[in-house]
This record gives sequence, structure tokens and C-alpha cells, in this order.
Amino acid sequence: MRELPLDDLPAHSPWPARLLGREDWTERPGLGGTGVDVYDEVYGKLLGLAREDPGLDFRDVQRAANHHAEESPVPVSRAEQLYLADVDEKQELQDEALVASLAGTLSGGETVVSLGCGWGYELGVLADAYPDCEFVGGDPAANGVALGRELLGDRDRIRFGHFDFRDDRWDLLEDALAEADDVVLFTQGSLTALPSVRDVVAETLTDYLDDVRAGVHLEHVYELHPEDTLLGQLRMEYANLRNYNDDLLTSLRATGGIDVTSVTYDVVGGNPLHPLSEIVWEPA
Ligand SMILES: C[S@@+](CC[C@H](N)C(=O)[O-])C[C@H]1O[C@@H](n2cnc3c(N)ncnc32)[C@H](O)[C@@H]1O
Repeated sequence: MRELPLDDLPAHSPWPARLLGREDWTERPGLGGTGVDVYDEVYGKLLGLAREDPGLDFRDVQRAANHHAEESPVPVSRAEQLYLADVDEKQELQDEALVASLAGTLSGGETVVSLGCGWGYELGVLADAYPDCEFVGGDPAANGVALGRELLGDRDRIRFGHFDFRDDRWDLLEDALAEADDVVLFTQGSLTALPSVRDVVAETLTDYLDDVRAGVHLEHVYELHPEDTLLGQLRMEYANLRNYNDDLLTSLRATGGIDVTSVTYDVVGGNPLHPLSEIVWEPA
């Protein structure tokens, strides 16, 4: 992995030219809003791949998807520094950030409920890293749930079901709470898909604060982008152009009953203009 000056980012990413209006660009149909249809289509293709070759495990499927999507070297970020990395190295960085995000919260015996888990790659990684924990994943994309079950469903510590943040009640979480004493709520890159999370946090998440032990989010946190750096401004513009939410941290902090205990900016950016930051909270 080698450092990448911001000046050289346009040679490795189409986004600076799009953000500056130098290249015409419109969102793919279906990707506006939450993009569930688009994710479902992608997961459907991976499901086909997994069924064609039953010898593939969940890491093989992720690797195939990564190499199909991008060619090395790829730009990544960590702590506001840009780098060029190999495609596999980028996945390792993302896996490290994922495992690290729960390190201060899990001590064994917890059930992690991942909301918007896609096809559940993250649950496979976490289940390997935390062998004494159980995992429940939910997503509105039916092919994601089917692929998760196909690749990881034989493990008795991982379960999948339908889940949508926009539902009034979160049955997946309620079922997990009915079965387990110590539940940790987790999201990675899924709240991002909503144009605003204010109502989801203030009206639905709050119903479960008495029963959940902690929340851990690896998400794109708009409010953390520095307004006084070029990188920060490009990142804000990226989120604006794609209609991603700008209110996750504000909504969590504004909600009585939630105590945000740590916030870490840019733990890893698989897209350096759209990095994941880590937020941990506990019921107050
Ligand atoms: C960027 S992917 C992240 C998937 C997975 N957490 C990961 O990190 O690989 C965004 C996910 O959010 C899901 N999503 C979109 N809208 C959602 C909603 N309203 N409720 C729950 N999940 C949603 C999509 O189906 C997709 O699987």
C-alpha cells in the first residue's frame, strides 16, 4: 500500500471529475433512494455464482465480486490519508475495521443483530473473529437473504431474515430480543442508503433502547467531514450528489436515551470520498 496524493485521485477515481461537473453523470435508475432493487440484482448474480460452484465459500464469493468490480490498484482512505492498495488488500483493511469496531463491545455471549447486512459477508467475518457470539442479519433484498442462507446458513450461530428500516416494527430485532439476553445492534453501510435517518432513529430505534445493550455503526457520517479541507468538501459533495443522509450522528445525539460513547472518523474508505466512520452508543 502506498500513499496517494489527493492531486492524483482523479487518475484512480471517476468521482472528482463528476463532482466538479467535468463529466456528465446521472445516477443509475433504481439507485436513487435506498437502491434495494439494485442491490437485489447484484446479490442475485452472486447467488447464481454460488449455485454454479458450490465449492465457493463466503470469502471466495466476496473476492470474486471485488475482482469483478475493480482492478488493482484501487484508492482507499484511512484517517483522512489516501492510499493505493490491491483489491485483496482493500478487503483486508475493511475486514480489520469491521472486527475492530466491535472489539470494545463484545466479550462473548452476545448476539449481534446486523440491520441491512446485504448477503451477510460481514457476519461470516465477525463469526470467525468472535466464536463465542451469535449473529442475526436482515436485509430487504430477498436475494441477499437467500445468498446469506446458502453460504452461511449451515453455521448454527448465524441466521438471516427480512428486515427494512422503514417498517414501524423491527420483527427481526424483536425475535432476537425474545431469544437472547445480550443483544448488540450493528449496521455497516446500510443507514447510508436512507436520505434521512432522523425518523428511523427517533421513532423506531427508540422503541428498543430498554432491551438493546449497545449500538455500533460503521457508516458514512456526513457531520464528521471537515468543512475546511478539500477532501472534506469533496466528501460532502459526494453525499449530496447521491442523496445519502447527513443526519446520523445528529439524530443519535439528539435522541434522549442514547449516549454516544465514541466516534472515530474515516476508519476505512473503500471509496475514499465516502469513508466509513465508527459510532458506538449505549442506552443512557
Ligand atoms: C452498501 S450495502 C451494505 C451491505 C452490508 N452491510 C455490507 O457492509 O456489505 C447497503 C445495504 O443496505 C440495504 N438497504 C437499503 N435500504 C434499506 C432499508 N430501508 N432497510 C434495510 N436495509 C436497507 C441494501 O439492500 C444493501 O444490502
